[in-house]
Amino acid sequence: MKKFNRLPNHIAFIPDGNGRWAEQRNLPRIEGHRAGIESTRSLVRYLSEYRIKYVTLYSFSTENWNRPRAEVNSLLKILSESIENEAAELHQNGVRVRHIGRLNKLPQHLKQSIEGAVELTRDNAGMNLNLAFDYGGRTEIVDAVRSIVSKGIPSHDIDEGLFSSHLYTADMPYVDLLVRTGGELRISNFLLWQSAYSELYFTKVLWPDFDIGEIEKALAAYSRRQRRFGRV
Ligand code: IPE
Ligand code: IPE
Ligand code: MG
Repeated sequence: MKKFNRLPNHIAFIPDGNGRWAEQRNLPRIEGHRAGIESTRSLVRYLSEYRIKYVTLYSFSTENWNRPRAEVNSLLKILSESIENEAAELHQNGVRVRHIGRLNKLPQHLKQSIEGAVELTRDNAGMNLNLAFDYGGRTEIVDAVRSIVSKGIPSHDIDEGLFSSHLYTADMPYVDLLVRTGGELRISNFLLWQSAYSELYFTKVLWPDFDIGEIEKALAAYSRRQRRFGRV
């Protein structure tokens, strides 16, 4: 294993570029998503060996519902199959699977796979693997406001800590390193609050090609960053 002088406690990924990977090979886009799941598997295994405590994967955004129905259905189907297939091994490795986002609009099969994996692994103390399904940063903030208002919390009690504890990520640390593959330079509504002070790492590499060598480059870049948080 490679040595890094500093590792992030929480890494979040925007795994982009599956569709382009497939198009470059004249394959249907869904084959890109399948290949993307394969890179995710090895990445998760690698990061848990490094004892990274929190890993968040942007799996399906609130905006992804705007894709063609057929792509949405087949994507959500293979994602739910892969959760089913991986749950036992994740459990063996002490990984705790969690979900961030809204569950109610997801197809029943996916909801069940997520809930099953969350339940199976709930007492594990290893890596927290957050699956962001039907996740949107703005929706999350709206949901937090709703929850605060519905509890009747008085305005003078609302501060950053209280607000943060009403987000989907309530008890989790903020994001240290945010990685986006696929070459786009944007956040696409991911973890808006939690990445306010994250180190950003963008690469043109498409997600299915994002292998161990590529994650090592991202970790090496992170270990060279100087985090200042406004100080000198
Ligand atoms: C990212 O790959 C995966 C999801 C959004 C689920 P894309 O499907 O966005 O791939 P590109 O950006 O079209 O290449
Ligand atoms: C972000 O990728 C969402 C996920 C990876 C799940 P998109 O491909 O959907 O983002 P945009 O549309 O390029 O902003
Ligand atoms: Mg994309």
